[in-house]
Amino acid sequence: MEPNLLPLPDYVGRRRQLMAKLSDRGVAVLPTAGLQTRNRDVHFPFRPDSDFFYLTGFAEPEAVLVLAPGYAGGEQILFCRPRDPEREVWDGRRAGLEGALEMCRVDRCYDVREIDTILPGILENREILMYPMGQSGELDIHVQQWRSHAKSRARQGVRYPVELIESGYLLHEMRMIKDPAEQEIMRAVTGMSAAGHRHGMRQCHPGMHEYQLQAEIEYVFYRLGASHVAYPSIVGAGANACILHYTENRDPMREGDLVLVDAGAELLGYAGDITRSYPVNGIFSPPQLAVYDVVLKSQIAAIGELQIGRSVAAYHEAAVEVLVDGLRDLGILRESREEILERQLYRSFYMHRTGHWLGMDVHDVGDYRGPDGQWRNLEAGMVLTVEPGLYFSPDCADIPEIYRGIGVRIEDDVLVTLGGPEVLSAGVPKIPEEIEALMALGESVR
Ligand code: GLY
Ligand code: MN
Ligand code: MN
Repeated sequence: MEPNLLPLPDYVGRRRQLMAKLSDRGVAVLPTAGLQTRNRDVHFPFRPDSDFFYLTGFAEPEAVLVLAPGYAGGEQILFCRPRDPEREVWDGRRAGLEGALEMCRVDRCYDVREIDTILPGILENREILMYPMGQSGELDIHVQQWRSHAKSRARQGVRYPVELIESGYLLHEMRMIKDPAEQEIMRAVTGMSAAGHRHGMRQCHPGMHEYQLQAEIEYVFYRLGASHVAYPSIVGAGANACILHYTENRDPMREGDLVLVDAGAELLGYAGDITRSYPVNGIFSPPQLAVYDVVLKSQIAAIGELQIGRSVAAYHEAAVEVLVDGLRDLGILRESREEILERQLYRSFYMHRTGHWLGMDVHDVGDYRGPDGQWRNLEAGMVLTVEPGLYFSPDCADIPEIYRGIGVRIEDDVLVTLGGPEVLSAGVPKIPEEIEALMALGESVR
């Protein structure tokens, strides 16, 4: 779906839901991210804090959301930058207080420079203060000052926050279950990510450099409306595929190499996260295909485990079992299945887990275990990646030589639904014949 036709998330409803959890004993103070310097006079592209953006949809820096259920001066307050025609000529438009009030549908907007004057009064008679502790030293100091101010009035009978709650504690449970608007946005962002991968497969050929393949893929992300890449793209050919977070992307890709591409777009604050591994020349060699088939079987088995009510650990276990059988069939591990699992001998070749929550953050928030320490069960609306892999670095002296230097990962993004797993990233092929057929079409026209 066109990015500008996507449904608007229910920010007001989310704030109400959080406020109901807080009760009128509590107050939440949620700042957005700050601008980060890249080098002299240059900033990194601004990216709002995910928690703040989840509750406001407001994408300017220097803003703080305050939620104070029952507060007579307005329960939902946004502190932000006022209009400043001179600065706006240099740095771009600002919503200003009136614009932000209308856009975010909060009760009040104040100039962010007034926060030190206004906030201590809001903290008065609140016992619980929720904020992202430790996220910023500067914020920690401000919060202590605002709290001390309220505390200094204790003799006049004013109560002040005595309980501090980490903001993620209440908020991240909400963020873990994606509502219908979020599901639509995630279908869109994974769809555009898949389109980038499909385009990359067609452009790929021996002699091309990793960065050129990266550029082809990211070109499609941006052309389709992505706001950013969700994380630095990984394009690793040959043995570079065995470096899990390889991002140099500088090497030439050679005839006979397999290339591992892990790349995703970001749209409206949501991430796609897709990996495909394919032959640079468009045809899998027999050893590449043998390894690829094991990873693919493992990935398909893992996706099958993403059913409502099943433990979040089950899909990793399912993936590992198939990988272990494959490692034995390939003659890479010779011990018994039980011994390999017991001693985790597969970890020399599969050193990460099978996936993670996906959402506004690529490694999204949310606990994997419940308060009892048990793995939690899957619920409708959760989104996970499924990304098993096998990595045989060239230094693995004790495996058959034909497999050395091959790295394969296959990663899809999956929504847990009542009807079973919905593979959001299904738009990019992963069956070897389908990859070869797409690559055989050759360069697509821009
Ligand atoms: N792209 C990061 C990950 O797959 O976890
Ligand atoms: Mn990834
Ligand atoms: Mn991932």
